[in-house]
Amino acid sequence: MCGIVGILGREPVAPSLIEALKRLEYRGYDSAGLATLEQGRLTRVRASGKLRNLEEKLAASPLSGTSGIGHTRWATHGRPNETNAHPHISDKLAVVHNGIIENFRELREELAAKGHVFATETDSEVVAHLVAEQIREGAGPAAAVARALTRLKGAFALAFLFDGEADLLIGARRGAPLAAGWGEGGVYLGSDALALAPFAHTIAYLEEGDHVVLTRERVTFHDAAGHEVERRRQPLQAGSFLVDKGNFRHFMAKEIHEQPEVVGRTLSHYLDLASGTVRLPFELSFDAKKLSRVTISACGTAFYAGLIARYWIERYARLAVEIDIASEFRYREAPLPNDGLTILVSQSGETADTLAALRYAKTHGQHILSIVNVETSTIARESDTVALTLAGPEIGVASTKAFTCQLAVFACLAVALGRARGVLSEAEEKALVAELAATPGLMADALAHEARIELVARDVARASSVLYLGRGPAYPLALEGALKLKELSYIHAEGYAAGELKHGPIALIDYAMPVIVLAPPDATLEKTVSNLQEVAARGGHLILIGSRAAREAAAADLAGFVELPDIASAFAVLVYAVPVQLLAYHAAVFMGKDVDQPRNLAKSVTVE
Ligand code: M6R
Repeated sequence: MCGIVGILGREPVAPSLIEALKRLEYRGYDSAGLATLEQGRLTRVRASGKLRNLEEKLAASPLSGTSGIGHTRWATHGRPNETNAHPHISDKLAVVHNGIIENFRELREELAAKGHVFATETDSEVVAHLVAEQIREGAGPAAAVARALTRLKGAFALAFLFDGEADLLIGARRGAPLAAGWGEGGVYLGSDALALAPFAHTIAYLEEGDHVVLTRERVTFHDAAGHEVERRRQPLQAGSFLVDKGNFRHFMAKEIHEQPEVVGRTLSHYLDLASGTVRLPFELSFDAKKLSRVTISACGTAFYAGLIARYWIERYARLAVEIDIASEFRYREAPLPNDGLTILVSQSGETADTLAALRYAKTHGQHILSIVNVETSTIARESDTVALTLAGPEIGVASTKAFTCQLAVFACLAVALGRARGVLSEAEEKALVAELAATPGLMADALAHEARIELVARDVARASSVLYLGRGPAYPLALEGALKLKELSYIHAEGYAAGELKHGPIALIDYAMPVIVLAPPDATLEKTVSNLQEVAARGGHLILIGSRAAREAAAADLAGFVELPDIASAFAVLVYAVPVQLLAYHAAVFMGKDVDQPRNLAKSVTVE
């Protein structure tokens, strides 16, 4: 959730710490801080709110130390104010922390009884005091950290800087990602490769339970048992991590507009367009014919991608699909069948609940396939098979292009499973591949309706509550549309299966509440149109996203209409996702909201 970075440099490190934190701000932006050694003494600067507040403080009183640590926070324990901002300091050390220390209350009481005075409401501060206590008892910095780690419960990544130790950084990882990096300007620690990309030419990921001791000359990894170990160094391609908004006002706008390209790129990774077949870029770790069931687990938008995929996998591969959000699935103690496949979906590949769901499925003998956007992520590394989405870095906190790329991968997988199980014919495969191949172009057509969607968004922005309706795959897309509106514009929104309307929510209908109907031209269109008419008959405020044929069939007064091409495709939801995203985007922009970094959110949720 939070982002951490550490640098042992040759020049003053504060500017590089800030640059790395900018790349990590997607992980949280409640407060930020850094500590450097000024003439050997620990000095820290912290600020609540966005990173620019910290930058302003540093501009007023610059730091010149050549070793330092930095942090950008997503608050778990304690308010998002300056006092609770990291780094936390005790005696002669400073620490930055990503994650949760579950036993912090017991440790805090124990340390308070020994005279430690706590300055914050955070769980993280206890780590500083725990290490300080070991140093008081005579341990050197590395031994003190190693001993302290044995006392901590929870999931975390940590970076430590010590007073008077200008050539020492220590990092630790349990349940949250951390990488060490080597570059011309020094050695580094960072939550992810994106943070280190401007500085490091090589990185190595810490494994679960590792800690690492860095000096400018030597980087030493230790495993959970404390043994010195080697970790694989891999080159870092700086170019692939370029992060800029191009000509767009927000990252989210850029990412929405990138979709025809990145969905096309993802599809071409999985399809052989010349032969009209699906060609998976990996070997399946199981015999598809013997599969008994597919279980899907994920969080947020990635979960909605899974819900859509259920329709495709059941229909094209004739496989039963069970799906649950990861935070529930991990604790449900669900029995999992022999020869079952579990699919985890995650943009970041670091979401704590999704990772826990993966581990549960693994211990229950499932084949593990993950659909992730970050190849080096923990979820990818712990999977039997990794199906990559080639969306590129997604910086906007609201997921857009990662979502449609997840759908693209799922669609290919459903067809591939259908073929491998002998339930889809060659001709059916060809027809579905042709539909998929046409999708990026149709998404580009949908983007061309942006001006119209912006007008509709202005109307929606005036509401305090919105209902989204859809059937079939458009039902989970309605859930996703409501999530996008909530997280970006803070307007209350609900997604509903159109057929459920009359079982309760119809009581809500009045002209103050826009009802957005997703009506792709599939076998259920007629039914969706009937539901739309039920809303119209009660004086509802109707907005239709559909084809001209749907508009004509609706024959009702509409407050808004977004016309999409007449898409005869089972995968029309990929195209319908575009206006759904643009609508939430423009409503939020119109309302003056922080589109790329909505309040209270973080891009990567590495805590429960
Ligand atoms: O990195 P992941 O795909 O695992 O993240 C899952 C959710 O946290 C994420 O999709 C979240 O719901 C987004 N804010 C949605 O826009």
